[in-house]
Amino acid sequence: MKNRKIEELLKVMTLEEKVAQMVQVSYAHLGREKALEWAKRGAGSFLHVLGDDAREVQKVALESGHGIPVIFGIDAIHGHGLNDHATIFPTQLAMACSWNKELIKQVGRITAKEVAADGLHWTFSPVLCLARDTRWGRIDETFGEDAYLTGELGAAIIEGYQGESIDSPDSILACAKHYIGYGEAIGARDSYDTEMTYRKLKDVFLPPFKKAVDAKCATIMTAYGSIDGEPFTASKKALKDILRDELGFQGFVVTDWDNVNSLVNKQYVAADIKEASKLAAEAGNDMIMSSLEFYEAAIHMVKEGKLDEAVIDEAVRNILNIKFEMGLFEHPEKEMDSACIGCAEHLAFNKEMTNECVVLLKNEDVLPIKSSINKIAVIGPNADDIKTQYGDWAYFTHPLPNPDRQPVRPYTTVIEGIREAAGEDVEVSYIKGCSVLENENDDVMAAKAVAQENDLIVFVIGDEIDQAGEIKDRANLELSGKQLELFRLLKETGKPIVTVLVSFKPLCVEEVVEGSDAFMVAFNGGMFGGNAVAQILFGNVNPSGKLPISFPRHTGQIPVYYNYLPGWHGGKYMDLPETPLFTFGQGLSYTTFEYGAMKVDEANLTISVDVTNIGARDGAEIVQLYFNDKVSSMMTPVKQLVRFAKVFIPVGTTKTVTFTLTSEDFSFVNYEEKRVTEHGEIELMIGASSADQDLQKVTINI
Ligand code: NOJ
Repeated sequence: MKNRKIEELLKVMTLEEKVAQMVQVSYAHLGREKALEWAKRGAGSFLHVLGDDAREVQKVALESGHGIPVIFGIDAIHGHGLNDHATIFPTQLAMACSWNKELIKQVGRITAKEVAADGLHWTFSPVLCLARDTRWGRIDETFGEDAYLTGELGAAIIEGYQGESIDSPDSILACAKHYIGYGEAIGARDSYDTEMTYRKLKDVFLPPFKKAVDAKCATIMTAYGSIDGEPFTASKKALKDILRDELGFQGFVVTDWDNVNSLVNKQYVAADIKEASKLAAEAGNDMIMSSLEFYEAAIHMVKEGKLDEAVIDEAVRNILNIKFEMGLFEHPEKEMDSACIGCAEHLAFNKEMTNECVVLLKNEDVLPIKSSINKIAVIGPNADDIKTQYGDWAYFTHPLPNPDRQPVRPYTTVIEGIREAAGEDVEVSYIKGCSVLENENDDVMAAKAVAQENDLIVFVIGDEIDQAGEIKDRANLELSGKQLELFRLLKETGKPIVTVLVSFKPLCVEEVVEGSDAFMVAFNGGMFGGNAVAQILFGNVNPSGKLPISFPRHTGQIPVYYNYLPGWHGGKYMDLPETPLFTFGQGLSYTTFEYGAMKVDEANLTISVDVTNIGARDGAEIVQLYFNDKVSSMMTPVKQLVRFAKVFIPVGTTKTVTFTLTSEDFSFVNYEEKRVTEHGEIELMIGASSADQDLQKVTINI
């Protein structure tokens, strides 16, 4: 039925109407009048438009040509962030600290409802790039460094966005991006060439996209970059052979921003837009984001007989297919009540979930803050910086909708959270001391004087939006401005220091961590990031997050991801310890979990372990299972995450965590680019983090 309708439409549509379906227009950039002209022409999609503006575009589209509904896309990547009243969650990197698939699925559900209520259909989320070179500007947008964790959390949020079925009133389309290898650009320089083979790409970077396709992700966005000199936008191998034929992707592919023009004016593989449009269409790009010149060029190429009209038909078929599956022809707008946007229920969930997105990494008996502490000094640039706390792609942190917007309550900064949680008996003083980027108002001596008068210092540091995002890669991840100078002065007071990192990525904070009595990372926690930090400081919440990404000691040590390939000199620099500052999977609790001996049923590949809460508080532990293929025909990582479970364990009780594996879990991509499992010994490792000292090991045969 659906297919018949699509074929009937394709028969009556003119070439111009078909090419227009492939065009995605930026309303924010073009403005209303030009956007409406494109709606009349039959443009298939618009991005960066909300509410009534979108409704107007839709009305014009439905009254023009064959009345094909427009599909509206938006970067709602940690909540419907470009709407000032929406529920804005922690960024992907921060939510990944929870390792909690259920929570992340629910983030997707709530975002879908709020996006749909704004008249829109599609979010450009999740990012499935791996964050291995943390100099990259977009680390905050990822689920961290590990392909398994990224794939699991990615599938969860996709299921949340798309719900039971994409035609439900409260479902929107997900978009797995950026396909592929974007985070792996040389030197972490945004959009540069990805220096790797297809074998490695399939082995390491493809699995999260496979999980996205298996979760029926409706759309995929291509990457800006290139692999071995071929732009992904022009790669039939990436977009057709691998994505469609090998992974079985059924949805439609959208380019990233202006990728078709980039083939001409940035990557120089096409002499002009006509050649670029042919390359992009033939490679398998179905929808073209913002290279509006594609429209004339593709029509011209078909008319000249240089581009087969069947290529256009195929792209339009893929787009119409999703429009039909979504039920857009019957309901061009989802029937969601806009009262759900930022409603009390969504905010309450956000507050709860953010408590799981903080990772405690050091605690020398100072936390939770003791009742003997009467006076607390909160010092540092990010204690009251709502912009850093919200992170990128929020209505007042991203230049897109309007750079002059101001944050709208409710939200809680760290200092506000601390004041609220401290209660009346504790006196809280706050002084900024310095900015993240050096500033004439910096007054580090005044901050030291305040510290001197208090029993405990909460030092809140990090980076800021000008140091993160697209085209904002950093060559140096040390603390900027006077933050380190300020820390040294605070140290001189001899007062206990609890350092909180509110940042877009792991920064090089070795000296600060060593000199602090406690250290926690909150990344960009969104509306209630400050509340979560305060609740943990005062012990109202027992921390349960773990790192989805490793911390280097020094920028020159990057990359420090845990699942590296072995090398015979041990990967050690002569002037640094071999280990990172913190490694993947680490995170402390206020209670203590004791692991029993790992039990392995080799025949059924079932692994179990008893975990007992032997401390004094209820808590949640993230049990992690890794493996190493001891001998294989290709080199494989020293260890690889293969399962995890987050379990709540009340005081004094034991939970048995059981994982069942299949031999495919031990597969890798061989020289012929085929995924294989080889016979032989596998070392299984189970424990509280990826650090060797946290893992117990058993070797099995498969
Ligand atoms: C460019 C970014 O790379 C991509 O992630 C985003 O979805 C699009 N612009 C649309 O804003």
